[in-house]
Amino acid sequence: MGHYIGIDIGTSGTKTILIDSGGNLKASATETYDLSTPRPGWAEQNPEHWWIATRESVRKVLADSSVDRNDIKGIGLSGQMHGTVFLDAKNRVLRPAILWCDQRTAAQCDYITETVGKARLTRLTCNPALTGFSAPKIIWLRENEPELYDKVQKVLLPKDYIRFRLSGEFAGEVSDASGTLLFDVSNRRWSGKMLDMLDIPEKWLPPIYESAEPSTKLRGDVAAELGLNTGTPIVGGGGDQAAGGVGNGVVKEGLVSTALGTSGVVFASSDSPRLDEQSRVHTFCHAADGIWHIMGVMLSAGGSLQWFRNQLGAEESRQAAAKGVDPYQILTAKAESAPVGSEGLIFLPYLSGERTPYPDPSARGVFFGISPRHGKAHLIRSVMEGVTYGLRDSLDILRGMEIEINQIRASGGGARSKLWRQMQADMFNSPVVTIDKDEGPAFGAALLASVGAGEYATTAEACRATISIDTELEPILENVHKYDAYYQIYRKLYQDLKETFAHSARVVAKYH
Ligand code: XUL
Repeated sequence: MGHYIGIDIGTSGTKTILIDSGGNLKASATETYDLSTPRPGWAEQNPEHWWIATRESVRKVLADSSVDRNDIKGIGLSGQMHGTVFLDAKNRVLRPAILWCDQRTAAQCDYITETVGKARLTRLTCNPALTGFSAPKIIWLRENEPELYDKVQKVLLPKDYIRFRLSGEFAGEVSDASGTLLFDVSNRRWSGKMLDMLDIPEKWLPPIYESAEPSTKLRGDVAAELGLNTGTPIVGGGGDQAAGGVGNGVVKEGLVSTALGTSGVVFASSDSPRLDEQSRVHTFCHAADGIWHIMGVMLSAGGSLQWFRNQLGAEESRQAAAKGVDPYQILTAKAESAPVGSEGLIFLPYLSGERTPYPDPSARGVFFGISPRHGKAHLIRSVMEGVTYGLRDSLDILRGMEIEINQIRASGGGARSKLWRQMQADMFNSPVVTIDKDEGPAFGAALLASVGAGEYATTAEACRATISIDTELEPILENVHKYDAYYQIYRKLYQDLKETFAHSARVVAKYH
C-alpha cells in the first residue's frame, strides 16, 4: 500500500502529515515560527525558518509512524499563498519573504492598475491588483530596494521555495501561481503580456505544473537527511486554499467551504473561471482536475482571536495551561455565556486591513458599542461574531454571482469550536457540516500526491474515496433574525469609518 506525505507551509507553522492510500492519518507534526512586522502594515518571514520546520516535521512524522520509507510513494506541498521569495544567481535568499498579509504595496497596485488598465487586468489575470499579491511586491522591490532587485534571478512562492530545497529544482503549479497577478488564470499558464507590461523577466519564474502532476524529485543529500528515498516524486501541490479545497472535498460545483485559520476564507468550486463584476472575490485555478475556484479572503479571521488571546487572554491562557487544554477552548467557552449579538457590541476584524469585501489596506479593527454591561465574554463573542459577519460578506457575494451552494463545509482551527460553527449556520441561514478529516491543506497536498502516483484517476475520485461528512448543524431561526439585524449595523460601520481609516493611516504613517 502506498503512503503519501503532505507538507503545508503555513503562516504560524509548517504541518507535515503522512497518510495511507485510503486517506487514513498515520502521523502528523507541526513546527511553529514567528511572523515579523518590522513596520506598520509589513509582514515578513525568513524562508530558512520554513525549511527548518519542514525538515524537523518530516523527520518527526517518519519517527512517529512505523511506515517503511520504501512505501512512501510521493510528496505533496501546500503553503501560504502570495508570499514572495527573491533568490540571487547562487540561489541565495536576498531578503525576508514578503507575505500574503503584507500591506506595503498600495502605490504599486495603483501603478499596475494604471499601466495595464482595470478591464485588461481582469481579462488577463481574472483578478484586480491587491496588496497581498506577488507582482506588486516585485515592483516594490524594484522601487525601494534597487540594489537587491538588481541581483534577483528567481521569484518563488513559499511552497515552491521548499520544493527547491527538497529537490534542487524550480517548479510551480497553477493554483498558487494564480495569486501572483502574473498568471493567465483562464488558460493556466504565465501571462507573457502581464510580464511584458510590468517589465518582469519570465525566466525569474518557475515552470508550471498541474497540482497532481509529478514535478520534481527528492534530491539524494536531502533524502538522506530526512530519512526518505532519493527520487521520491513531488507533485505540483497547491496554494493552501486550493489544497484545503481538495482536503475538504470541495472539488465540484455546489460545494462551498469556509476556512478559519489566520485568514478567513469562503471557497467555492467552479467548472469555469467565473468573475465577480466588482472583483471583490478572487478567481483562481483549483488544484483539482483542471477546474477553478472562487473565493473571498479575510486577512484576520482566526488571527483576530489570536490577537485577543495574545493581548487580553493571559488569564485564559493560564487556566488552559493548568488544565492542559488549548487556550481557545477556555476563550470560546467564556464567549458562550454572552448572548447572540453580544448585546450590540460589534467587532470589525480589519486588524491588518482587509481584502474581501473591501480591498482596503488602511482599515483597522474596531470594537463598537461598548457599554458598562459588557465584559470579557462579550468581547470574545463579538470577535467571533465579527469574523463570521466577514465570512457572510463573502458568501453573499458568491450568492449574488449565482454560484450554486448546496452544502457548506466548515474547516480550519475555528471549525473545532461548535459555537463558531453554529454562528456560521445562523449567519449564513444554512446548515453547516464538517467532514471526518481535520488536516485541511496538508491532507489535500497528500491526496494530490496519491493522485500523482496513480492511486486514483482523478482528484475528485480521491476525495470521494477518502472523505465523509461527520457533523451537521442546522440554523436556529431566532438567531438568524437577530444576526441579520446586527449584520446590517456591521455592514454600515465600515462605510461610516472608511474615510476615518484612511485619515488615521496618514497620521500613523507620519508619526510611526
Ligand atoms: C489566500 C490568502 C491566504 C493565505 C494564507 O489568497 O492570502 O489564505 O494563503 O493562508
